[in-house]
Amino acid sequence: MNTHNIAVIAGDGIGKEVVPAAIACLERIAAIHSLGLNFTHLEWGSDHYKRHGRMMPADGLDQLAVHDAIFLGAVGDPEVPDTESLWGLLIPIRREFQQYVNLRPVKTLDGVASPLAAKNPIDLLIVRENNEGEYSEVGGRMYRGLPQESAVQETIFTRLGVSRVAHFAASLASARSGRLTSATKSNGIIHTMPFWDEVVEETVGGYPGVAVTHELVDALAAHLVLKPWTLDVVVASNLLGDILSDLGSAVTGSIGLAPSANLNPDGYYPSLFEPVHGSAPDIAGKGLANPVGQIWSGAMMLEHLGHSEAAAHLQAAFESALRDGHGTRDVGGTSSTSEFTAAVLAAIEALAADQPAVSG
Ligand code: NAD
Ligand code: IPM
Ligand code: MN
Repeated sequence: MNTHNIAVIAGDGIGKEVVPAAIACLERIAAIHSLGLNFTHLEWGSDHYKRHGRMMPADGLDQLAVHDAIFLGAVGDPEVPDTESLWGLLIPIRREFQQYVNLRPVKTLDGVASPLAAKNPIDLLIVRENNEGEYSEVGGRMYRGLPQESAVQETIFTRLGVSRVAHFAASLASARSGRLTSATKSNGIIHTMPFWDEVVEETVGGYPGVAVTHELVDALAAHLVLKPWTLDVVVASNLLGDILSDLGSAVTGSIGLAPSANLNPDGYYPSLFEPVHGSAPDIAGKGLANPVGQIWSGAMMLEHLGHSEAAAHLQAAFESALRDGHGTRDVGGTSSTSEFTAAVLAAIEALAADQPAVSG
């Protein structure tokens, strides 16, 4: 039996609802496919912060490092400053473990209405740079309370940082349509962006079957709404990729659907799987959260761990539950989080019965 040690951090808000939903599905899939998924549940997040003054223990990263993957819900609590919750858990994990690719699929699903009038299927991948760029640690606030009060943050692109995410995106594009779109803002305003463009261009030059188009991000945002089906792989800096991925999830119907994989493609460190959405304090504790983004992130984790069949089974199960009209309210249905999860579990069994000899 293949055994994988997975650290689970449900975190805050709806993370505490969608993570148990996804774990129930993963446990059932693991049993059917004879996978050993050994979950270590870590009670880290804003409640931990309120008790101990930190989001995770001082040796939290060391505890995570010995796992094969990390499965995260979300962090963020109205009673804890976001600077504490994010710099105290999520951002250090992404950086310490060199999860420099944040892979965010955007795909229309049967049974979920897109708000767009045109109904062409959307199937694109956002490859977001996840370690540097606009999310740099260089900067701060000065002269608080004085008329000259100011805030500064540097954007830092490195040749290593841009080229490695561009390599990842180019190799994905080369396995798909060969079309790569790079989000940019290099029309003379943002000094760092021509460097991003140059390094992307040079890197993609090494992939003969791939053509890169540099698209200004404001126009690209409109493109994502008007003709998203013409996009295939989109590579973007940290902040631009963050914004485009929420937009991408919205055009497919709901932010509650979107998964993400924070990958260390070199495999030296554990990768982290989490939905694109946050802790949604406005709906937390009400059973309204859509668990699809979390469950789909679980399927991406199975794929990453080498279990394509198990991943496809889980994917087919939640897609079937949506197709059969069991969606939560954000996608126009009436199910609660647990009712939708029950429908996914039933679909897992039904699909297993269709294919009795499942493995891997
Ligand atoms: P959010 O993604 O939590 O919520 C935005 C809107 O989408 C809300 O109206 C919410 O109800 C809805 N929504 C989100 N997920 C949903 C789901 N699964 N089902 C149904 N509806 C859903 O973004 P926000 O409100 O801007 O941020 C809330 C907190 O989450 C903040 O503290 C923020 O910093 C944090 N955050 C954390 C992560 C993370 O941990 N990866 C990601 C984004 C935001
Ligand atoms: C995301 C989130 C995070 C980000 C925040 C919470 C720091 O919005 O994962 O998309 O900007 O990366
Ligand atoms: Mn985001």
